[in-house]
Amino acid sequence: IFAKVEMAPRDPILGLNEGFAADTRAEKVNLGVGVYYDDNGKIPLLAAVRQAEKARLEAAPARGYQPIEGPAAYNAAVQNLLFGAGHDLIAAGKVVTAEALGGTGALKIGADFLKQLNPDATVYISDPSWENHRALFQNAGFKVENYPYYDAATRGVDFAAMKASLLGLPAGAIVVLHACCHNPTGADLSESQWGDVVEACRERGLVPFLDIAYQGFADGIEPDAVAVRLFGNSGLQFFVSSSFSKSFSLYGERVGALSIITDGKDESARVLSQLKRVIRTNYSNPPIHGGAIVAAVLNSPELRKMWEDELAGMRDRIREMRSSLVDKLAAEGATQDFSFVTAQRGMFSYTGLTVAQVDALRDDYGIYAVSTGRICLAALNTRNIDYVAKAIAAVTRA
Ligand code: LMR
Repeated sequence: IFAKVEMAPRDPILGLNEGFAADTRAEKVNLGVGVYYDDNGKIPLLAAVRQAEKARLEAAPARGYQPIEGPAAYNAAVQNLLFGAGHDLIAAGKVVTAEALGGTGALKIGADFLKQLNPDATVYISDPSWENHRALFQNAGFKVENYPYYDAATRGVDFAAMKASLLGLPAGAIVVLHACCHNPTGADLSESQWGDVVEACRERGLVPFLDIAYQGFADGIEPDAVAVRLFGNSGLQFFVSSSFSKSFSLYGERVGALSIITDGKDESARVLSQLKRVIRTNYSNPPIHGGAIVAAVLNSPELRKMWEDELAGMRDRIREMRSSLVDKLAAEGATQDFSFVTAQRGMFSYTGLTVAQVDALRDDYGIYAVSTGRICLAALNTRNIDYVAKAIAAVTRA
């Protein structure tokens, strides 16, 4: 059966973890995967999460099957976070939400559902985009193309090119948009540019699919939802995949959600019925633990406040690492100006390091980055930042 199976390449992001784990150098640093580590180099277990877990352990609930779309308390909490509690869309029954296996799982059930609705549509992703977007939509059976996004010369968004491209797409084209903290570039649209994107989607009859995996890592929970809210107020129908992997530090629990915005209650009921079939035939229903913890935190004013403070702490520490890295690179005599790192948003910096420089970082220093030059600032800490700055300065000088 397997004689003709070829060796697949390692995943461009998660594959780095495998190489990193096998590396025996004590000074190694993993700047590859988008994971937040604290200043001790540990993935934090948030205090709000710990409290919710303790209460759950004491309550010792039974472990029956969940509803196919996940529990109502969780799905309502997701909607409130995305649109703001009491938003008209929610009150009007226009938001269908299903718990999903992380942001990736949400994208996948959305892609599978879209394939049933519009099998011949092409999916457009930003150039560049998260490494998994293309493969995920291709595996769901779609053709995937790019729309222009990043301008290496300005290290910002080439918005004129992006907008012109969107305005040239055929009706029904699916457009994947990073709602905040663009992965991998850290270059986001302004509010007014988002307004133009909404209008382009309306004018061309596009299907917007917003991906929001880093809400709270740029400016805060509310400001980071600006794109979702603008679409929410537009009267358009659209998809949103969201994730609590980073914002709750619950990576391995796989807690995310797919929300679909419809034109009303009747449409919502029909959409949910089909979405449930997609979920049932993939994994039946979501696991209990992660979603229960997130719902308990978001639905308790006290725990929610605690979580928001902890999230702000993560956001602030990443910002400190950004400016500290820029200073240290300059002090190490880097030949390049790295001040753009402080302007980028979220966990990542698109450094402009070449494949050869990324290889040299790994081979000579045990520092792992994505081959595109993306590094995760959230893996820097006061102990490893000098070493990393020295190494980056050295490989860019070579
Ligand atoms: C990343 O981009 O590193 C994260 O979103 C983790 C992942 O699943 O790739």
